[in-house]
Amino acid sequence: MPQLSIVVPTFNEVGNVVELRDRVAAALPGIDWELIFVDDDSPDGTARRLAELAQQDPRVRCLLRIGRRGLSSACIEGLLAASAPFVAVIDADLQHDETRLPVMLDLLRDPTIDVVVGSRYAGSGSVEGWDRSRATISRVATRLARLVLRAELKDPMSGFFMMRREVLLRCVRAGVSGVGFKILLDLFATSPTPLSFREVSYTFRNRHSGESKLDTNVAWEFIVMLLDRFFGRAVPIRFIAFSLVGGIGLVLHLLVLGLLFRVGSVEFGMAQSVATLVAMTGNFVLNNLLTYRDMRLRGWGLLRGWVSFVVACGLGALANVGIANYLFEHQTWWMASAVAGVLVGAVWNYAVTAVYTWKKPQAPKSGTRTGLTQRRPGMIARLVRRSS
Ligand code: GDD
Ligand code: MN
Repeated sequence: MPQLSIVVPTFNEVGNVVELRDRVAAALPGIDWELIFVDDDSPDGTARRLAELAQQDPRVRCLLRIGRRGLSSACIEGLLAASAPFVAVIDADLQHDETRLPVMLDLLRDPTIDVVVGSRYAGSGSVEGWDRSRATISRVATRLARLVLRAELKDPMSGFFMMRREVLLRCVRAGVSGVGFKILLDLFATSPTPLSFREVSYTFRNRHSGESKLDTNVAWEFIVMLLDRFFGRAVPIRFIAFSLVGGIGLVLHLLVLGLLFRVGSVEFGMAQSVATLVAMTGNFVLNNLLTYRDMRLRGWGLLRGWVSFVVACGLGALANVGIANYLFEHQTWWMASAVAGVLVGAVWNYAVTAVYTWKKPQAPKSGTRTGLTQRRPGMIARLVRRSS
């Protein structure tokens, strides 16, 4: 029976998975372990390679997710499939040092410790092959993340850690978000009781084969994460991302309007209409790329999604103007009226497009929500749960 379940999220890691199994086996002599890969239907055939591997090695399994993406949710689902009392997460690309696993396991045998984190910034930990600027950016980001976190973690963005299975279950039941890539941060922030932890230093190596999937989106994810922490989890994370995109849309709108109206001397009404459509389309594309990255629309779905988005946001704009007008006519300060209108419009747009534009058609019909990519409980529910 496995003592340790190791979860490995994979997306296009075909050249790494066999090597990882070999290295894990070499690192854990005398320990019963299982490897649970969670693959999001990688186009490079990772899942096929994993099926072959699992046919030869009963300690290996692959959880295949079709039509979904996301590092955090992949890790959580893999962790939930684990059977061992201790569970770990490690990247497939061999950047994390698997030889530290036995040390981490030993520390966890102390029942007062909940989590052991592989850390690039504790003790003799380090990062291989990063230039100065990359290292500085990472350190600054880490410092910011530490500021907003309750725990004094040296490497809060680590994707390499081990914990007790029951502790994990508690966090998942408390509503860990599963959106994005910062799973460890999420676990710490969601846990109903503060987690006691230890850090084990390691050297973050260069990638064995393939390329990183996070590079393009880290900055965006990071800003969303900071805002999420800042708003005290009262607001759903996707709403924050949606609002950020809305802000970008406003800038785009003003740019197009300025170009057409001031430079191109197009009539104002016409320029405003074109700018609105361009901004809506820009918002739709950005939300599809960033906010709903894990359920991205493609092909014809993209067209259908765009139509529903434009219709929803058109109605949202009407609500916005109506409410702002009403308030203004009833002696509300113009700025407050405008902000109230914008807020109502934003909430409307978010709520309606979450249901009609990005909702999966095969969602369960029953009243209960399942799945990790869905909304987590609101602030009130959390407060109630915390105090009970
Ligand atoms: N299933 C699944 N779905 N796996 C994914 C996805 C996804 O959408 N995106 C990435 N992965 C897998 C990769 O295949 C890899 O095994 C692991 O997640 C990490 O992805 P990388 O693309 O290699 O990320 P990185 O090296 O830039 O960043 C990693 O290290 C950082 C520092 O420890 C990640 O672990 C970060 O979370 C971590 O902060
Ligand atoms: Mn990597």
